[in-house]
Parts: sequence; C-alpha cells; structure tokens
Amino acid sequence: MGRSLSRCSREVAHDNSEPMWTRYFSDRPGPWPLIPVVHLARTIYHGPLFAKRIRRLGGPVGSYLEVGVGTGATLKALRRTTGAACSGVDKTALACRLAKRNAMGCDVLIADGLLLPFRDATFDLVYSLGLLEHFPDRKQRCLLREHARVARKTVLLHLPADVPHLRFLLWLNRTVGGRSGVWADEELFTMAVIREKFPELPFRSFFDVLAGAMSYWFVLKPEEILRHVVAPR
Ligand SMILES: C[S@@+](CC[C@H](N)C(=O)[O-])C[C@H]1O[C@@H](n2cnc3c(N)ncnc32)[C@H](O)[C@@H]1O
Repeated sequence: MGRSLSRCSREVAHDNSEPMWTRYFSDRPGPWPLIPVVHLARTIYHGPLFAKRIRRLGGPVGSYLEVGVGTGATLKALRRTTGAACSGVDKTALACRLAKRNAMGCDVLIADGLLLPFRDATFDLVYSLGLLEHFPDRKQRCLLREHARVARKTVLLHLPADVPHLRFLLWLNRTVGGRSGVWADEELFTMAVIREKFPELPFRSFFDVLAGAMSYWFVLKPEEILRHVVAPR
C-alpha cells in the first residue's frame, strides 16, 4: 500500500504555467515538429472523435462546458453535431483567442478551472481533455470538485494512459526533442493509479483504442465526486 501510494502521490507537477501553454499553442514546424502535428490531428481527427465519445458517454444533454478548452476543436464538433449550448474556459489568453475563432457559436472565456466563474449545476455535462494530468495531486482534487460543482448530470475526464508507446513518445520528446512540460512530463494513468488516488469514486472507464490506444475516458456523476472527494485545505 505504502509503496504504491508513493508511486502515485505527486505534490510537484511539471510546468503548467500560462507561458508554457502559450509556447505550446504558438509552436511552429521545426526540426521536431511534434506539436504542429498534434494541433493538426486535433483539428481533423481527435476533435470530431472526442465529440462522438462525449455524446455517447454523456447521452443527450442541452449544455456542455469544456474546462481547458485549448483551440476548441472538440467544442466546435460538439456544437456542430448537437446544437447544444457549448461553453469553454481556458486560463491561457492565446488558447481562448484561438478557440473563439475556431468554435463559432460557442461561449469561450478566460477562467481558471480551479475557480470557475459559474453557479453550481450550470451545465448538464462538464468535461476536460488532457487537463488533470498537468496538476499535482492536491490540485487534482480541487479541479475535480470544481468540475462537479458546476455540473448537473455528468462529469467526463479524458486522461493519458500509462502504456508503453506513450511512455516511449514522452521519453523521446524529452531526450531527443529536448521538450519539457506538455507531451514530455505529464502524469500517465492506469486504473490502479486512479483507484488509489480516488478510492471512493466509482469510476466507469473506457480505453480509447481509436484515439491512438493511449487514453482513458472516465465517467462520473457530480454528486459522487462532491460526496467523496475532499478538497485539501
Ligand atoms: C493539453 S491542453 C488541452 C486542450 C484541449 N482540451 C484539447 O483537447 O485540445 C490543456 C489546456 O488546459 C489549459 N489549462 C491548464 N491549466 C488550466 C487552468 N488552471 N484553468 C484553465 N485552463 C487550464 C491550458 O491552457 C491548455 O489550453
């Protein structure tokens, strides 16, 4: 128990600062063009695929909030395919500008996912993609509670899986590509890790083979999170 707890207990995470994310969103093709490829893939493949997953896992709903919306590729596809009210927040000003341009008809604003500027139970479904893994453990609990606070029906999390090819990719980015931060240092998840971090939560999970076989979807009810996840003092 002690051994595995220390494996997943991280009070220090990698750089999750706004300058790091601004560099990420302004990356141009160079000798190691990983990030431009990621952005292109998000636009033409993952955005529509993730929107399909969210529709299936969340069922029919009238409103969505994406926390850490990035360039808005998924929100745009959700809006187009459901006509639901779609909102997104991001703490990075450049991401918000790109999302506003990209996800027409959606409400996008600058806000911190740890302190969302919305009343309790404002949105039917609240989700995040590639967000939780950039926070240390204590803040992960705060982030999860904040997702749940503003959600009415469902919370969805999309997290990177601890699989050999993703580990290898991150290692390659660090050692050969000279990267740090996103796509280099983030936490990877297994079912065992997620159960250890949040032992009371009845996570329903789905391993997404079509998204590169490197991610999990987790489905939760907001009341389950609010009942069991205690925000650290
Ligand atoms: C890996 S990107 C994912 C973007 C988008 N969800 C996607 O799937 O393409 C993570 C995003 O979370 C944002 N972010 C990080 N910390 C945040 C916070 N505390 N509040 C709001 N957004 C945050 C970053 O600015 C970045 O846009």
